[in-house]
Amino acid sequence: MQQVFDDVICAEEFGFTSEQKVLGYQRESWDVSEHYLIPKKDPNYVFRQETLGIMSAWWEMGSGEPLFVSGPHGSGKTSFINQFCARVRAPVIAMTARARLDRTDLIGHYVIDKDKSMRFVDGPLTRAWRRGFVFLVNEMSAAPGDLWLSVNELLEGAPLFIEATGEVIERHPRTRIVMTDNIRGLCDDEKGSYVGRFVQDPAVMDRCWKMRMDYMDADSEIALILSSTPEVQCVGISSSEWKREFAVRLRKSAERVREAYCGMDPTVSVDATISTRVLMRFRDLLLLSYRSKAMGCSHREAVRKALRISLTDCLDSTSASVIEKLVEAELGNIGDYLLV
Ligand SMILES: Nc1ncnc2c1ncn2[C@@H]1O[C@H](COP(=O)(O)OP(=O)(O)OP(=O)(O)O)[C@@H](O)[C@H]1O
Ligand SMILES: [Mg+2]
Repeated sequence: MQQVFDDVICAEEFGFTSEQKVLGYQRESWDVSEHYLIPKKDPNYVFRQETLGIMSAWWEMGSGEPLFVSGPHGSGKTSFINQFCARVRAPVIAMTARARLDRTDLIGHYVIDKDKSMRFVDGPLTRAWRRGFVFLVNEMSAAPGDLWLSVNELLEGAPLFIEATGEVIERHPRTRIVMTDNIRGLCDDEKGSYVGRFVQDPAVMDRCWKMRMDYMDADSEIALILSSTPEVQCVGISSSEWKREFAVRLRKSAERVREAYCGMDPTVSVDATISTRVLMRFRDLLLLSYRSKAMGCSHREAVRKALRISLTDCLDSTSASVIEKLVEAELGNIGDYLLV
């Protein structure tokens, strides 16, 4: 395909057994001083076939155009980009957008050196443009639409003109732009719960490939819980059976809360949801909490304690109690089989 790639990465690297390959880079093709920008591989990261398919197609074919990844908080957008780049060995320079971000924050500005001389310091976009990095912008809609409009020509891969120095930089053939967001760019999320977000200009969104990343399907999320749950000792059931059942019930409890949050369950309504991020935290705290049963903590208390710390302590008591009941009902007595 394109000559910019100099390596081929097997599907096994992404957790699949197919013959499929993804083009990538050799680590040695980057300057040693840039190696730290290649994200560290998380062996427990679970790729989903569909999103990996879109990402690979964009990676290999969509060279000059940015990728826009939208999805609810904690669904794995940022970690997906980083974990993909870890495997294809692409350095990533990341930033999070904000309301007062302006073009100079992206391109660069003059600083005064120790010897009182003025020196231009490249911003993250300029560094990516020069060196061929992936420029990752998180929460892109936290910045107003006119900012992204002001770099429209760069979103198309045009040369970067630094007004302050007069320098023109051709886009390095490896440079890529990825933006993540909780809203879809041209419309808000259905609940309108994300604060201070700006609907973006259609001309900006028009330039991007789009990828939706909702919370994981049951099989993927259960696989993630299974692969990252530590070994446990059980009574009356084998440890692997227990882990599987625990993962299934955890996922089910997250699903119930997600349905209530999205209004899919008309009988209950809650103000927060269990993202994959929260689910992992809840799992860790729950295992800790189950162990404290030895100190007289009941099963119910153990679940509530773990839920409070991982999610519900920032909610009103009604929402917190509904979530606790939904989760408790799904988890049942699974903790009773743990040897504490
Ligand atoms: N597929 C996955 N495999 C492994 N861990 C995952 C996966 N998806 C999410 N996680 C876990 O959830 C955490 C949150 O993911 P991440 O930060 O990528 O979410 P996000 O969608 O970017 O959220 P936000 O919109 O809040 O920025 C990760 O640090 C990781 O622990
Ligand atoms: Mg993120």
